[in-house]
Amino acid sequence: MKIRKSKERMLISLGGSLLVPGEIDWKFVKRFKQFIIKHIRQGYSFILVTGGGKTARKYIEAASQVSKITDDDSDWLGIHATRMNAHFIRTVFRSYAHPRINTNPHNLEDFYGVKEPILVAAGWRPGFSTDYDAVLLGKYLDVKRIINLSDIDYVCDKDPKKYADAKKIKNISWKEFRKIVGDTWQPGMSAPFDPVASKLAQAEGMEVAIMSGHNLENIKNYIAHEDFIGTVIK
Ligand code: UTP
Repeated sequence: MKIRKSKERMLISLGGSLLVPGEIDWKFVKRFKQFIIKHIRQGYSFILVTGGGKTARKYIEAASQVSKITDDDSDWLGIHATRMNAHFIRTVFRSYAHPRINTNPHNLEDFYGVKEPILVAAGWRPGFSTDYDAVLLGKYLDVKRIINLSDIDYVCDKDPKKYADAKKIKNISWKEFRKIVGDTWQPGMSAPFDPVASKLAQAEGMEVAIMSGHNLENIKNYIAHEDFIGTVIK
């Protein structure tokens, strides 16, 4: 296939909640693959960062039943879950994806000037989230817009699972968003975007769009700068 990398390079953070909500959601991955390949044919290229999902939580819970584990231990189990998911994604994209998975967003030597239209990245080291890794990769690889896909449609002004009157937010500044999520990140936290990653994204002047991964037509609209369902933070 002839690849034209004439259009924008998009970074998509694939939340673990999409890839492994319980079991591995291969039906989602199958649809997502077709969607990405269609965009590659149009000239886009992608960085795909994979979260850990249920796999991470299952291992952390299991290890805690057997031994007293530290936060570091939990993180390493989480990191390996993100790497397993990254390898899975790299495998299903075969010839489209660079064979090496990035596991250190500060070391991109092998990734500059690659010819494949997809780079896959996973967790790096304890104390971070793949949201943070995504922002670092975006910074070094000169990405302007990050798409954060998970199983929520919008960011709300408060937790919609707890408050029935939570309001959906369409556009928000980093300053206001950071008032909602706070400053600290904990392993397994379920903020729409990691607070520490938010701080870096704000400093870098990056745009992050939060939307559901299930509506691919909607993601297409965002990529094409059209109206979409989701929250833009910038
Ligand atoms: P994520 O928190 O990024 O995945 O990584 P997730 O929870 O599946 O993603 P969302 O919430 O659906 O978007 C899973 C775990 O891996 C560890 C952390 O413990 C994190 O909670 N991790 C990941 C690290 O310690 N360092 C990293 O660089 C990435």
